Amino acid sequence: MSLTVLNHPLAEHLMAGLRNKDTAPEHFRHCARRITTLLAIEATREMKVAQCSVETPLETMKGKDFAQGLSVVPVLRAGLAMLEPIVELFPDVSVGYIGLERNHATAVAHSYYVKLPKLAGRYTLCVDPMLATGGSASQAISMLKAGNPAAIVMVSVVAAPDGVARLERDHPDVPIIIAALDRGLNDKKYILPGLGDFGDRLYGTI
Ligand code: PRP
Ligand code: URA
Repeated sequence: MSLTVLNHPLAEHLMAGLRNKDTAPEHFRHCARRITTLLAIEATREMKVAQCSVETPLETMKGKDFAQGLSVVPVLRAGLAMLEPIVELFPDVSVGYIGLERNHATAVAHSYYVKLPKLAGRYTLCVDPMLATGGSASQAISMLKAGNPAAIVMVSVVAAPDGVARLERDHPDVPIIIAALDRGLNDKKYILPGLGDFGDRLYGTI
């Protein structure tokens, strides 16, 4: 299993905006979009490319272009915040959706919606901003694996060590790309110091 934590001043700046309890939903969404762009660039680093011929205005040269398709699957609801910037970067991406919601008492997620494109042979990003216990991400990745993608990368904004350990145990073949690795979880399984409930802050439903 590989864990990559973005290490960049812009990522730190955007994380400070996301974590601040006084950040309003509009600015929260703005920071989420921008940090997703940084995460998506890192998460697609291992996509396969192939040589192609490019004619510049002066001569012909060997360039490189994508050699495999890309899919992205946000975990609803919070993962939706990460979809648009990925579609901006990769307009040909195919998109699926997995709806998972944690039970507030048990923190165990149940699935309420699944709509996936063909994933076979595709480089697939599973995007969910919060990796807390890792239960939601583990379930989502199992669903994606059933579609036989060429690779799956888990992309989150903040992770707790518990979530990372859970994925390491359940899906050691799936690399994780995050912007911050936090200290731990509270008794309600929220990430500490974290940023609160991402979905509620995104949609103003607190
Ligand atoms: C949040 C988050 C993840 C999950 C992480 O979703 O977006 O999906 O919790 O927690 P876990 O790692 O312990 O499973 P939530 O269930 O709050 O639903 P929402 O996105 O609809 O708000
Ligand atoms: N989901 C969230 O939105 N925040 C957390 O801290 C944990 C799960």
